[in-house]
Amino acid sequence: IWSGKDQKNANQPAATGQKRPRNDAGNKVTVVLGAQWGDEGKGKVVDLLATEADIVCRCQGGNNAGHTVVVDGKEYDFHLLPSGIINPKSISLIGNGVVIHLPGLFEEGDKNEKKGLKGWEKRLIVSDRAHLVFDFHQVVDGLQETERQAQEGKNIGTTKKGIGPAYSSKASRTGLRVCDLLGDFKDFSTRFKNLVQQYQSMYPSLTADVEDQLKKLKEFAERLRPMVRDGVYYMYEALHGPPKKILVEGANAALLDIDFGTYPFVTSSNCTVGGACTGLGIPPMNIGDVFGVAKAYTTRVGIGAFPTEQLNAIGELLQTRGHEVGVTTGRKRRCGWLDLVIVRYAHMINGFTAIALTKLDILDVLDEIKVGVAYKLNGKRIPHFPANMDVLQKVEVEYETFPGWKTDTSAARKWNDLPVKAQNYIRFIENHIGVPIKWVGVGKSRECMIQMF
Ligand code: GDP
Ligand code: IMO
Ligand code: MG
Repeated sequence: IWSGKDQKNANQPAATGQKRPRNDAGNKVTVVLGAQWGDEGKGKVVDLLATEADIVCRCQGGNNAGHTVVVDGKEYDFHLLPSGIINPKSISLIGNGVVIHLPGLFEEGDKNEKKGLKGWEKRLIVSDRAHLVFDFHQVVDGLQETERQAQEGKNIGTTKKGIGPAYSSKASRTGLRVCDLLGDFKDFSTRFKNLVQQYQSMYPSLTADVEDQLKKLKEFAERLRPMVRDGVYYMYEALHGPPKKILVEGANAALLDIDFGTYPFVTSSNCTVGGACTGLGIPPMNIGDVFGVAKAYTTRVGIGAFPTEQLNAIGELLQTRGHEVGVTTGRKRRCGWLDLVIVRYAHMINGFTAIALTKLDILDVLDEIKVGVAYKLNGKRIPHFPANMDVLQKVEVEYETFPGWKTDTSAARKWNDLPVKAQNYIRFIENHIGVPIKWVGVGKSRECMIQMF
C-alpha cells in the first residue's frame, strides 16, 4: 500500500487481473529556487535552461522580484514576466500563486520591448485565478512600513510593491482575481470599492481616485484578456500532452519564505518548492529536478538577522565588486560570507537535486575566504536553523577558512580552467550541503557558466 523508495511498479495495474485506470504521471517540471535571501542569480540560471524550454512559469511573488538576464551584452531585468520570455520559442506563464500589478506588468513588457524583446504579449499566458495588486495595495505597503517604524522602531524594508497587502487581501478573502476583472465589470467595481473602503477604514490617510483607477483597470482588462487561461487546465494539458520541457522560475528565496524564512522579515508567499505546486495547480509527482541557486557569498536586502554579514571592508568589497544593488529598489545589498547553515536549511525544505553556485568570480581578489558552517548558542553547536529572530541575532558563526586563489576566473569555461584553490572551495561547499553543484557562475552573461555534469 505504501509507496516506499521503489516507485518502479507504481503505475502497474493491480495483480488481480482486473483492469485499473492507469495513472499517467505525465511530464515533470524543473524548478529553480533561491537558496538564500534572494538575488542569487535565478534569472541567469532560468535563462540558461529556458533556451530549451517549452514553457517557463512563475508561481509566486509579484514584481518585488528583480531577475537580471544578460544576453549578447544586453541586460534585461524582469519583475513579473518569467525570464524565459526572452526565448521566442517558449511560452511564459504567470500562475495563480503570483500577485499581479497590471500597470507594472505592462510597463515592464513595454520597457523590454524597447530593448528588443519582441512579441511578448503573444507568448504570455496568465492564470485566471491569479490575484491582483492594486495601486492602493502599494500605498498601504508604504503606510504599513511607516507604522512599523513608528511602533517598533524598525520596518521590514519591503519593496513597497504592495505584495504583503495583496496577499493579505487574498487570505482574508476580499481579494480580486483576474477572472473577476474579466467577468462582470459592475460586480468587479462594487467589490473593488468595498476593498478600498475596507483599507480606508484601517488607514484613514489613504486616498484613492476610485473612478479613475476603475477606468484604467477596464482598459488593462481588455489588453490582458487574450492572454488569460484557466491555469490549472493549461498546466494539466502541458503535463499530459506530448513531452514538454517545463520550467518553474522561483522568485524571492527560501529565507524570505512566509513559513520558513526569517519571519517577520520575509515576503508574503511560499518561495520554497511547495509554492510550485500551489502556485500552478500541479501535483507533487510532477515535480522533477529542483535546482537551488546560491551565491558564492551571501547578500540580503532589507532588515533582519544576517549572521555572516560583514560590516567591514570585506562586506564593502563584495558589495562593490559584486555590484550588489537591488534590481527592484536600487538599494545597496548587505553582504557577508557564504552561510552554509542557511543553504543546508533551504535544502532540508526543498530537496535540491543540484545547486548552481553563482558569482564565484567576485571572490577572485580575496586573500582568504570564509564559509559559515555551523551556528553556536552559548558555546554549543545547534543542529537546526532557529525560528526565533532574537535567537538568530545571537548565534555565533563557526567558520572554515580557505586560502584565496587570487586569479581571474571570469574566462573559465570548464572545471579544469578553475584554479585548484577555487576547485577546493567548490568541493567543500558541495560536500557540506550534500548536494552536487551542477553549475558554477563566473560572470554575468549566458556563457559565463561552467557546467559540471
Ligand atoms: P535573481 O533575483 O536571483 O534573479 O538575481 P538578480 O538578478 O537580482 O541578481 C544577481 C546579479 O548577479 C545580476 O546582476 C546578475 O547579472 C549577476 N550575476 C549572476 N550570476 C553571476 C555570476 O556568476 N558572476 C557575476 N559576476 N555576476 C552574476
Ligand atoms: P528576487 O526574486 C531580494 C525582500 C525585501 C524585504 C522583504 C519583504 O529578486 O530574488 P516584500 O516587498 O516582498 O514584501 O519585501 O523581502 N525581498 C527580496 N530581496 N530579492 C528578492 O527577490 C526579494 N523579494 C523580496 O527586500 O526585505
Ligand atoms: Mg533579484
